[in-house]
Amino acid sequence: MIQKTPIAVLISGRGSNMRALIEACERPDYPARIALVLSNRPDAVGLEVARAAGLQTIAIDHKPFGKDREAHERKVDAAIRASGAQIVCLAGYMRVLTPFLVNSWEGRMLNIHPSLLPAFPGLHTHEAALAAGAKEHGCTIHFVTSGVDEGPILGQARVPVHADDTPDTLGARVLDQEHRLYPETLAKIIGQQS
Ligand code: GAR
Repeated sequence: MIQKTPIAVLISGRGSNMRALIEACERPDYPARIALVLSNRPDAVGLEVARAAGLQTIAIDHKPFGKDREAHERKVDAAIRASGAQIVCLAGYMRVLTPFLVNSWEGRMLNIHPSLLPAFPGLHTHEAALAAGAKEHGCTIHFVTSGVDEGPILGQARVPVHADDTPDTLGARVLDQEHRLYPETLAKIIGQQS
């Protein structure tokens, strides 16, 4: 039996990348298992998906913490540690992180971003790619560092931009690749760290 590394998956919304990770982790030969799915939004649809898959879930709402991002992160960090997770995968976790959480998980926290970084950091990446006349677009997995959407790039997947693309059609093409890239890159990182 392969030794599976416990991971935590952090989400804020529908959790389709989380679902791709769940499916990968269900394979006996995949080197990770999900110890925790955590959301800063109690109503995140992805939490229901995770519960239905029999996973441990927790919601830690950021709203009661107001502007004290670090206080919220201390609760998040405690929950991740209590789960035994060794790697954190941000999967549509829409919070700007403070140095507290970033430094706590340096080299062990991955993020997926829907563009070919360093192009188009931030939000609305598909609109930005179309507005810039990009011929190619895609997604990036990177280690999380203190700069938003910065950090060493671990993997990228490219898609062509079609002349008649809308943000939705382009985004769907990118999302397909995200679902392939995240499990693949996570497995690669675990292989390098073990
Ligand atoms: C994904 O496209 C992910 O790349 C993006 O949010 C979406 C979440 O979808 N992340 C970011 O923009 C982070 N800056 P999902 O909840 O279906 O996985």
